[in-house]
Amino acid sequence: MKGWMGKVRALFWLSILSIVLSGCGKENLSAFLPKGYGAQVSLDIIFISLAVMVFVFIVVMIIYTFVLVKFRQKKGQEDFVPKQTEGNKALEVVWTVIPILLLIIIAVPTIAATYDLADESDKADSLNISVTGNQYWWHFNYGEEEIQTSQDMYIPVGEKVYLNMMSSDVLHSFWVPSISGKMDTNPENENTMYIEALEEGVYWGKCAELCGPSHSLMDFKIVAVSPEEYQQWVEDMQNVDLEATPETASAQEGQAIFENSCLGCHAIGSSPTAVGPNLTNFGDRTKLAGVEDLTHENVVNWILNPEKMKPGNKMTGNYTVPSEEEAEKIADYLLQLKPSDVTPETASSNN
Ligand code: CUA
Repeated sequence: MKGWMGKVRALFWLSILSIVLSGCGKENLSAFLPKGYGAQVSLDIIFISLAVMVFVFIVVMIIYTFVLVKFRQKKGQEDFVPKQTEGNKALEVVWTVIPILLLIIIAVPTIAATYDLADESDKADSLNISVTGNQYWWHFNYGEEEIQTSQDMYIPVGEKVYLNMMSSDVLHSFWVPSISGKMDTNPENENTMYIEALEEGVYWGKCAELCGPSHSLMDFKIVAVSPEEYQQWVEDMQNVDLEATPETASAQEGQAIFENSCLGCHAIGSSPTAVGPNLTNFGDRTKLAGVEDLTHENVVNWILNPEKMKPGNKMTGNYTVPSEEEAEKIADYLLQLKPSDVTPETASSNN
């Protein structure tokens, strides 16, 4: 009896714990705090399914308890056989029809949402961004606007944005839980989905397909700003002055080193063919390499030893490692690359 009570007590606390913990999770990284159309639709379906399941559980438990109490073996009736009900047509119909109805309740909104989220009728009139997953970073190509950027994707709030997704190497999966569901990126065929942010903000994205040793570090962000701010950002990005001379002597020297070595893979300004991340607005990035704070020290450490921060990345071994002094200068140059006043802070401060 004591062991049985212990189990019940453990189950009770486990249930309480799971309810409390379900409130955990970072804001802007939770499918339970939807800030995008796709995420909102998905959460609605989750709640419909949950309601049906809870309903079934409660009804079954009530019947189970009732039967357990009413038909338990009583003293002096050890040989009593209750009335047998097999072949009862009414019962058979009831427990066939009820599950069918419950499944219809789940299926109708699920199928409607599937078609809704796969609708591409206004793709040609909408903003289209080509997304490329790479080990272990994301590239965003705004084809019509002739803008390339990496890691932080800027979009206008309240507008449908079509993402045309591929991978340059292995399978990845694009997932911004508070904005929409996941979509795989494949090396061979393009997948398309649309997203729509309902509120301004910076939303955290994760790669959701095991893609190598730094899979868990393949983070990125969606920066949703007002349509006016988005237009401003587009203009600023289109009009980046590639000839601009940095203010400090250190950054100027860093620029010279960068142009002589780093530009072989990276790009400043529009350059769709660069194999490494586009660094046009590097100084405005939310994070360094997706996960580290964007500090001078971290940028220097990355340049000197990227393998330590992101094992398996493709920069390691493919460049001449500069001296620490040179790395400091390159970091000075990169961190002052801030072509627009529209930044992740703009999106955050508007909320
Ligand atoms: Cu890319 Cu996991």
